[in-house]
Amino acid sequence: MSDDTKIFLSESEMPQQWYNVQADLPSPVPPCLHPGTGQPLTPPDLMPLFPMGLIMQEVSQERWIDIPDPVLDLYKLWRPSPLVRARRLEKALGTPARIYYKNEGVSPAGSHKPNTAVAQAYYNKEEGISRLTTETGAGQWGSALSFACNVFDLKCTVYMVKVSYQQKPYRRSLIQTWGAEVFASPTDRTNAGRGILEKNPDSLGSLGIAISEAVEDAATHDDAHYSLGSVLNHVLLHQTIIGEEALKQMAIAGDFPDVVIGCTGGGSNFAGLALPFVREKFAGRDIRLIAAEPTACPSITRGKYAYDFGDTVQTAPLAKMHTLGHTFVPAGIHAGGLRYHGMAPLVSKLVDDGVVEAVSFSQNPVFDAAVLFAKTEGHIPAPETAHAIRAVVDEALKCKETGEAKCILFNWSGHGHFDMAAYDAYFAQKLIDCELPQADIDEALTHLPQVGG
Ligand SMILES: Cc1ncc(COP(=O)(O)O)c(C=O)c1O
Repeated sequence: MSDDTKIFLSESEMPQQWYNVQADLPSPVPPCLHPGTGQPLTPPDLMPLFPMGLIMQEVSQERWIDIPDPVLDLYKLWRPSPLVRARRLEKALGTPARIYYKNEGVSPAGSHKPNTAVAQAYYNKEEGISRLTTETGAGQWGSALSFACNVFDLKCTVYMVKVSYQQKPYRRSLIQTWGAEVFASPTDRTNAGRGILEKNPDSLGSLGIAISEAVEDAATHDDAHYSLGSVLNHVLLHQTIIGEEALKQMAIAGDFPDVVIGCTGGGSNFAGLALPFVREKFAGRDIRLIAAEPTACPSITRGKYAYDFGDTVQTAPLAKMHTLGHTFVPAGIHAGGLRYHGMAPLVSKLVDDGVVEAVSFSQNPVFDAAVLFAKTEGHIPAPETAHAIRAVVDEALKCKETGEAKCILFNWSGHGHFDMAAYDAYFAQKLIDCELPQADIDEALTHLPQVGG
């Protein structure tokens, strides 16, 4: 086993293909349905919103998909990302477990999000689109897409969930630095936003609402397409570069994970690391795959696996997924990127099939783990990432109890340099551990559409 702390790949060793887990699933993911007709979506239904290059990836059953050269060139700005052995964290925990993390915080925007942002901007540019619209929670995705649009000379409009717009002003500045325009959602620029504001002028917004605004903006402008930072198959596909790199790096380390962990908002960073290991699991390896989510928005652990709308005002397609209901508005926790009512259909299917398991945590235990990580490993995690760290710490402490020397690999999905207000709130003991009443979930689930199985 390697003594190194960081394991790098050279640029020439960077994987040249994304991995499509759909080719290896024992049964297919239930199709997305048209929001108006309830019929399975066909590629032409998606053409007002997405370029053909991405639509074909969305429905592809090919195992490997070549990464275009211009995207590989851009990846080289920060990829391959380091695999790091968290020896100091292991020591502080007194655990026999070996902990490794894939540091996706080294990208220009500071998270895994640019892995798909540059790919999406590339395919849109290729097909003559001049502007992309999107939503953003914590601002990680909005900043990643702003960066990618700037590189490919596309305009970019970002609808940023209002609570995050207020909590994270410097992510907003980052979005503006790379050239995008950014609005606090709900806005009065769209029918969707105006409708929400009419009912609740003080709405703090949610990802579901911001998606509705961004989709409407794209659908009503010919030169614009919509871009989503998570959930969809093609987004998860682009993120698999993380897990493919990790497989090579673990081999160099002379180790292999027993447990793979990631936090889940829409599921893309978790899937990006985990899906290549799902392939290994299907091939007979004994690996546990754990998704970590907030108790304030527990779509996997307390939601229902059912067809639901991807957005609040029912303009986005219906997907079969773990959902809390498209009308569910989560509490304004600091992990803004985890405040989505649903979950990627691919991740949901793997949970339903018993391949992936999930855990949930409230804010204070999450920040306990974040601060422990910062004090031992130095890097300051994003609040979203800290959910994965909490799960890692718990698994490592279990190993301490049982004496098992397990190997734990997790996705360090982003740094928290723009999230220091959340750390301030934690130190001032102002973080609320939101216990979500079952009645709130039950109420939101009454709004699920009556379709599909
Ligand atoms: C740092 C970080 N991690 C995780 C997430 C959650 O998104 P996903 O589940 O798509 O990886 C976000 C979303 O904004 C994020 O910014």
